[in-house]
Amino acid sequence: MSFEITGVAALEILDSRGRPTLQTTVTLSDGTTAVAGVPSGASTGTREAVELRDGDTARFGGGGVLTAVGNVNGELADLLRGQKWESLSAVDEAMVAADGTPNKARLGANATVGVSMALARALAASSGQSLHAWLPGFGQPPRMPVPCFNVLNGGAHAPNALDFQEFMISPLGAPNVTEAVRAGAEVYAALRKRLSAAGHATGLGDEGGFAPELAEPEEVLEVIVAAITDAGYTPGRTGIAIALDPAASEFHKAGRYHVNGKQLSSHDMVERYAAMIERYPIGSIEDGLGESDHDGWQELTTRLGGQIQLVGDDNFCTNPAIITAAIADGIANSALIKLNQIGTVSETLEAMAICHRAGYTQMISHRSGETPDSFIADLAVGTGCGQLKTGAPARGERVAKYNRLMEISAHHPDLPCGLG
Ligand code: PGA
Ligand code: ZN
Repeated sequence: MSFEITGVAALEILDSRGRPTLQTTVTLSDGTTAVAGVPSGASTGTREAVELRDGDTARFGGGGVLTAVGNVNGELADLLRGQKWESLSAVDEAMVAADGTPNKARLGANATVGVSMALARALAASSGQSLHAWLPGFGQPPRMPVPCFNVLNGGAHAPNALDFQEFMISPLGAPNVTEAVRAGAEVYAALRKRLSAAGHATGLGDEGGFAPELAEPEEVLEVIVAAITDAGYTPGRTGIAIALDPAASEFHKAGRYHVNGKQLSSHDMVERYAAMIERYPIGSIEDGLGESDHDGWQELTTRLGGQIQLVGDDNFCTNPAIITAAIADGIANSALIKLNQIGTVSETLEAMAICHRAGYTQMISHRSGETPDSFIADLAVGTGCGQLKTGAPARGERVAKYNRLMEISAHHPDLPCGLG
């Protein structure tokens, strides 16, 4: 497959939080044009690739992305146009080399990932394939992912007193993605009713989950289990399981975890999670401990890794080298996968391939700042990882991904669904 790029362009647009991000466009010599929207996180790992912001406080409080836009329209366009390329990975490698830093600090990972996503989409369209079918695989056959709905928000994503960031529901028992989406939406509606009846406000956090004034994680788990039952589903693996992303780096300060006014050690946290999974149908915990708590993560993995999925996000940053080291150190048994944490589609696929070879599961993820771009739905299907978290079954930028899954499922009813 050899191709030529004739156009590379970017524009500053707004994300779902009203902050600037990039929309990128790539055009091929056969006339195919494709567009991508770049996501943006709020509870970011310190070793993520650099999201370039202008720092000009006269615009968007310094959050403008005109420098990154300029890098796409100038340097990256000059680099990529007017020559033959053999693959997406060749283009991604050229962008990484042109950037020249270990973390895309010069050109910006928001610039490179936007170009990489738009190019992948253009190459798929040019070959007459859907994006999910075109994406290069690494040994996991395609399958529909179980959606993981973030129905209750705290931490950096909501103004409430809740320290844990995400309480998610995974309809593991659903026979197909359409039924899984229905289950997610029905439990979400039941949860709204329960919260209202208890006198809570039902305003939403950044990822579309409710953000009530609850502070104790176990109290939230109680109400979610009740909502699952209210909606007529069975809490647990055969029905709807719960997944947590406490995003513990955000409340890990000076070696202690601050949860609802209490200060806990790493060991206390591990035992708290052990008690939670005894009492509640929790199948997965992401970022249960802080990104710098290496020893704590080893203890967590030894203690609970045989029972549930332990997902590394802030500590892994979708970075192939970091994940390789973590696997060698026996940390976690799963990785969260976010394109903009590493900055190209090819490196994202490499990170997933490393996990696959080590027996680590992978969960594809949105960011708390999103656009309606549904690239990650195709990424989840094409890589066959079996799980996608992309917020509540509410808010346009979140449901765009779930709707794309249902569209793919309608066209490919034979694809297997779920974790397998
Ligand atoms: P972020 O949160 O996009 O704000 O970083 C998502 C997550 O922690 O998984
Ligand atoms: Zn996370």
